[in-house]
Amino acid sequence: MRTSVRSTRIAVLCGFLLILVWMLYPSHTSEEKPEHLVQSRAPTIAVLPSTSIPEAHPTTIIPQPAPQADTTTWAPEQEVGVTIPTEPADTAVAAANNFPDETNLLGLNGRPKLPIERIIEEHFREPEDDGSHLDHAMLQEYVKSINDLGYPKFWRLECPGESQPGKRYEVLRRIGKEEPGIKYFFALDLFQIVNVLPRLMGSILQAIKYLGPENCAISIIEGRSTDGTYLVLHKLRHTLQELGVRYWLEQSDIDPHGEGVDRIAELSKLRNMALEPLLYNTEEFTTDPLILFVNDIAVCTDDLLELLYQHLLQNATQTCAYDWVDGGHLHYDAWVSRSMSGNTFFEIPQDMSWAFSRNMFWDEPISKAKYKKQEPLQVFSCWGGMSVLDAKPFMSGDIEFRRSYEGECYSGEPTTLASDLVKLNISRVQTVPYVAVAYNDHAGASAKGVHKYVKDWVDVDTLVERFEDDTKTTRIEWRPPPPRYRCMPSFVDCWWVDSVWDPNSSTAK
Ligand SMILES: *[C@@H]1O[C@H](CO)[C@@H](O)[C@H](O)[C@H]1NC(C)=O
Ligand SMILES: *[C@@H]1O[C@H](CO)[C@@H](O)[C@H](O)[C@H]1NC(C)=O
Ligand SMILES: *[C@@H]1O[C@H](CO)[C@@H](O)[C@H](O)[C@H]1NC(C)=O
Repeated sequence: MRTSVRSTRIAVLCGFLLILVWMLYPSHTSEEKPEHLVQSRAPTIAVLPSTSIPEAHPTTIIPQPAPQADTTTWAPEQEVGVTIPTEPADTAVAAANNFPDETNLLGLNGRPKLPIERIIEEHFREPEDDGSHLDHAMLQEYVKSINDLGYPKFWRLECPGESQPGKRYEVLRRIGKEEPGIKYFFALDLFQIVNVLPRLMGSILQAIKYLGPENCAISIIEGRSTDGTYLVLHKLRHTLQELGVRYWLEQSDIDPHGEGVDRIAELSKLRNMALEPLLYNTEEFTTDPLILFVNDIAVCTDDLLELLYQHLLQNATQTCAYDWVDGGHLHYDAWVSRSMSGNTFFEIPQDMSWAFSRNMFWDEPISKAKYKKQEPLQVFSCWGGMSVLDAKPFMSGDIEFRRSYEGECYSGEPTTLASDLVKLNISRVQTVPYVAVAYNDHAGASAKGVHKYVKDWVDVDTLVERFEDDTKTTRIEWRPPPPRYRCMPSFVDCWWVDSVWDPNSSTAK
């Protein structure tokens, strides 16, 4: 631990020095560089955000210290104005110095039962005035938009064919009907994203209408919004109740960006809270439900259905979409995602630019080939804006979202999850390249412009009653997970660690 603190301190010092050097270095002004170099100046030193739920879009942009390497064929033509959310380099360090006493509180197979008052029953706190000034009529407009995808009040990402999902997804309804109980559990952590609600909740509701409301549940943890996010979600309860969807809505004061808190620990708490209705009302669910954990994204109904479909067809434990920024060209979840080589999805070079961001899976030929053909492919860890997860290991208490243990590689909660799946020998994690999402409707339109819609890649109109009927989808041949993965508390502090952390191992830093 002492070495860890020292080396992380050194890393932070280096980070500050780099920034200082950059600030003093005169040639970072645009006049002095050839146009293409200036244009391609990508942001960022330091830690990429995780997957991140509520806080998906921090705005800090730390300029990079060096011009970007160019001349590669896949270099982006244009990265001007890219705001890749970043977080200060010292967050990980602050966190590392700040371990809570109960470091092992989330140990596998030992999830402590929560105090009874934390357990969510169907709970709807009366909304307070959140300062958003959304009146009754406007709230009604949101609810109408969510309930009716054709309602034109708010502009949203266009999703062709969304009024009637294709026959491909018939199999999802059949599977849901095999035994009584809820099969599909939609979990969300939402903060300050009222503008995304018509698209996000509209698609979720459409998927639920298709899958059968009695087969579905929604659990949302909202927190601290001042834009009416909670007001709209609260107003939505009547519509959902009429429809017959089980709906849990809870508020939390947890602020992952609050002072002195460990961001990943807080994000993990929020994620776990969203799962509580599933963990504590097991009698309402089937024996093998699926969690669809959705970030604050612009998403089409087909994206949701296809992710569920591939999860079941491929017999995966976790299935991720791809979240895109920079006009659909940059995979956002770089910090938490690792391929089957154990490395990042694309190479992050020493100048910390995104020069290689279009050369996905550069060091892993099987995935590279599949990605090129836009086929589902196995990875070590991912999130990608939304994930389907087998609920069983969560329900049994074997797994929950967590921060890193003391001495373990400091990483995002999807990466610690990946490590726990390996430990349990159930690491079947995949991504579906053509399920493209983004963090608002405009970015979503860009992402669809580049990666197209689900229906452009698969035949959604052919009836699939049983997965065996689908002879076109290439099945993943599941491989053992990589023995090691690239530990990357920040982009300037990387090493390789065992996929399952052993406290006694020499890879512990
Ligand atoms: C899914 O994977 C599990 C674990 O490897 C295996 O036991 C099961 O038979 C598989 N199911 C199908 C339908 O392939
Ligand atoms: C892990 O799972 C695979 C496939 O389900 C199985 O063949 C193997 O024996 C398991 N390994 C261990 C150590 O349990
Ligand atoms: C790690 O080492 C300690 C002390 O040497 C030992 O008690 C413990 O069992 C070891 N843990 C593992 C997982 O090997």
